[in-house]
Amino acid sequence: QRIVCVAGARPNYMKIKPVLDALEARGAETVLVHTGQHYDPAMNEVFFQDLGLRPPDHFLGVGSGSHATQTARVMTAFEPLLDTVAPDAVVVVGDVNSTLACALVTAKAGPLLAHVEAGLRSRDWSMPEEVNRVATDRLSDYLLAPSPDAADNLRAEGYRDDQIHVVGNVMIDTLFANRERAAASDILARLGHEPGTYGLVTLHRPANVDDPEVLAGLLKALGEIAAHCPLVLPVHPRAAGKLTALGVPGGIRLVPPAGYLDFVALQAGARIVLTDSGGVQEETTALGVPCVTLRDNTERPITVEEGTNVLAGRDPDRVTATALRVLADPPPPRRPELWDGRAGERIARVILEGGTAAGRPRPT
Ligand code: UD1
Ligand code: UDP
Repeated sequence: QRIVCVAGARPNYMKIKPVLDALEARGAETVLVHTGQHYDPAMNEVFFQDLGLRPPDHFLGVGSGSHATQTARVMTAFEPLLDTVAPDAVVVVGDVNSTLACALVTAKAGPLLAHVEAGLRSRDWSMPEEVNRVATDRLSDYLLAPSPDAADNLRAEGYRDDQIHVVGNVMIDTLFANRERAAASDILARLGHEPGTYGLVTLHRPANVDDPEVLAGLLKALGEIAAHCPLVLPVHPRAAGKLTALGVPGGIRLVPPAGYLDFVALQAGARIVLTDSGGVQEETTALGVPCVTLRDNTERPITVEEGTNVLAGRDPDRVTATALRVLADPPPPRRPELWDGRAGERIARVILEGGTAAGRPRPT
């Protein structure tokens, strides 16, 4: 079978790699398409090197733009490609604009559509990712859920049992595959930190970084936390100018976006992680590192219920109080079931043994 696998933005590379490997191990022909949603070397090339991901077979080069512009550019470039490649199935991962754009094209073109990370819901419709998640699931033939709570969300929305497959978490496949290589990173030495002596921060959600008032409040809280534990903040391009414009309190060190192996090393050595990232909530749970999520909600509640994640919201006083409490009394490490490094294999089995477009009941 011929399977198109789509990646576009930073968190997609870690999710697509185990799926590609597992499909190929079962003899499928894979075609890797990179939409080019992220394009800076630090948001793109470094991950191909670090993960051993082969160069994409097709690069669509869409770049940045408004939601409509970016989504439309991906669709316009992906549609003729899909016609030429004529795959049996398309795999999309996560919740970025590239995910939805390729899902929409595939659903009308005819190949089967598989969504890796189906069923996650923040129930916050102001998040562009929530719109992408809900719409992509609606278009998909295979809903590949990372955890039972995601499958419950899908059932509650009326999806059939034969569409839903709880397969585990592909991000954790990649994390486990690279944990030892990450341990060889010299990033801590380069920053002059010993393991267990610093905190790691990431910020890139529009709700946190696009409004200067909210960002200033978060920086104030981070400054107070940094008085107890120095912080390292690899800066996402969306946040770059905004952070420096506001002025960053002492004790917080801004560094460029980290490569994957360096970032895993930074997470593994951190005393605490403060983040608004989806993937980082999951990786800290798998690593057993305390995580404070700087959001009012999470589409990954399993990391709170069965992991090391604590939701702090965005109110500065609450963020500071939550972080200080977590520093004093870290949550015990726990790991959700099926976050075992084998999600890619389960996904490949579902897709390759799931039948053809002609032989399957479709989403309606
Ligand atoms: C996107 C995803 C988000 C994901 C994040 C991962 C959507 C709607 N959002 O957010 O879900 O969590 O990626 O990192 O798909 N930029 C650069 N260089 C790059 C890429 C972006 O400078 O290589 C800058 C541009 O100014 C761009 C801005 O970052 O306008 C935002 O990029 P975009 O891809 O639209 O959204 P992200 O915030 O990166
Ligand atoms: N990551 C990285 N370098 C960084 C920040 C994050 O390699 O400087 C990795 C992180 O380990 C995880 C993924 O990027 O695998 C998460 O991506 P991001 O936070 O950009 O997006 P989200 O998960 O929120 O969609």
